[in-house]
Amino acid sequence: MVRFLQLSFTFFLALESSLLFAEKGLPDTYGMGRTVAADEIAAWDIDVRPDGRGLPKGNGSVQKGGEIYAQKCALCHGASGTEGPFDVLVGRLSEDVFPFAREPGTVKTIGNYWPYATTVFDYINRAMPFTAPGSLRADEVYALVAYLLHLNAIVPANTVLSQENLPAITMPARHRFVLDDRRGGPEVR
Ligand code: HEC
Repeated sequence: MVRFLQLSFTFFLALESSLLFAEKGLPDTYGMGRTVAADEIAAWDIDVRPDGRGLPKGNGSVQKGGEIYAQKCALCHGASGTEGPFDVLVGRLSEDVFPFAREPGTVKTIGNYWPYATTVFDYINRAMPFTAPGSLRADEVYALVAYLLHLNAIVPANTVLSQENLPAITMPARHRFVLDDRRGGPEVR
């Protein structure tokens, strides 16, 4: 919270100064900070969009993913991705039904809920393993995504995923999500 307040305060200061300078013209220097180096921006600029923009170069196989999973993920997600103790990652529902609104207790998995395979990459890349986020190389993340998609019966065992073919995968729940394009009136898509 303290951090948030500090950030908001800085933001307001920045806003105030920018309004001020908009009137008077920008100074050559603010007398603080420094130019951010390209590699510093690159270290933060890791988001991967649903259409695959932002994916790094690399590739990984289902087989390799299985090895990494056993080493770095099974501990928390179970040997087959279903046992926990933490989030269940594997599981399709019969006929790919989508009962989550009616039955809120239904466990959401990559196979029954996630609309984009690219988001699985983004999530694992930025957040897992829980104890060392950001520690996986791109090749390892591709392999883990391949393995988890295979366990969810979305890709065959001989799959190798890369920045080229990952965005083309259609997830079972993809058509359950639509863009919210309401315009404020009664019109609902
Ligand atoms: C120390 C325990 C731990 C380890 C090790 C771990 N995870 Fe997780 N994982 C978690 C927890 C806890 C969450 C839920 C995080 C949250 O909701 O904020 C999670 C969430 C996830 C999710 C999102 C599940 C969902 O549907 O919301 C994925 C995918 C995932 N982990 C993949 C992995 C992979 C791949 C690895 C191995 C590289 C891994 N995890 C290693 C604890 C762990």
